[in-house]
Amino acid sequence: MNDDVKKIALVTGGNQGIGFEICRQLGQAGVRVLVGVRNAGRGSEAVRLLNAEGGDAACIPMDVTDALQVSAAAENIARSCGRLDILINNAGVLLPESRPGESGAELVRQVYETNVFGVVRVTQAMLPLLRKSAGGRIVNLSSSLASLRLHGDPSFELGSFLMLGYNSSKTAVNALTVMWAKDLAEDGIKVNAADPGYCATAMNGYASSRFAAEGAREPVRLALLPDDGPSGGFFGDKGPIPW
Ligand SMILES: NC(=O)c1ccc[n+]([C@@H]2O[C@H](COP(=O)([O-])OP(=O)(O)OC[C@H]3O[C@@H](n4cnc5c(N)ncnc54)[C@H](OP(=O)(O)O)[C@@H]3O)[C@@H](O)[C@H]2O)c1
Repeated sequence: MNDDVKKIALVTGGNQGIGFEICRQLGQAGVRVLVGVRNAGRGSEAVRLLNAEGGDAACIPMDVTDALQVSAAAENIARSCGRLDILINNAGVLLPESRPGESGAELVRQVYETNVFGVVRVTQAMLPLLRKSAGGRIVNLSSSLASLRLHGDPSFELGSFLMLGYNSSKTAVNALTVMWAKDLAEDGIKVNAADPGYCATAMNGYASSRFAAEGAREPVRLALLPDDGPSGGFFGDKGPIPW
């Protein structure tokens, strides 16, 4: 594919798990992938694997909790690519949490530093580059655990996963998604939240029979939405998820 027409995507936390599979699937769709990583060694290994499979990937060092690194990453992309077509806010943490009644502000703050403030920090820094795209797309990795409606349903299969920090951080990500979708519509930028489903990754000690590659499919679909696609929604691979 001609380099001028190739879409350019940044995937935060793209070195492993669902993020890595998103990079792989975007590469298979002919997208140039910038793999955002906080660990250079893990990043180069991921890029090596992606390019060995025929991808067009490069490593972008970036800890999403570090404002200087995030703005340096934006300058780096501006210099090397001049624009960004797709931003996937994938980097996230799940810390050991006790029951909601026993979780304190410090734990919640720590989770939000990556899962919420990191998403705001990266999006803010990349917006000038996304505005230079003919049709920017932002996909925020959320979770069905973010859904207030599902938590109110006694039959919700993940209803016993009551993590004050993690769950509410993803509810906040959903709120950010809606606000950005409305504001950025005039720039032609679509913003959606994706639930990858419960997948086996390092985050949960690989405690699932669902592969990360399956979880990557919905975020990738949202990243490649056509101009008449939705914005401001929350989707899993079975369709819209209630807020
Ligand atoms: N797995 C699931 O079942 C599931 C379900 C719903 C939603 N999600 C969401 O999907 C996303 C990916 O999760 P995953 O399951 O693939 O987890 P994972 O395998 O633990 O991968 C998380 C990625 O985020 C990176 N990361 C964490 N903190 C970072 C920071 N401060 N700066 C930059 N990168 C950082 C990690 O980098 P290192 O390699 O350096 O640690 C890693 O690349 C997360 O947002 C998660 O909340 C996962």
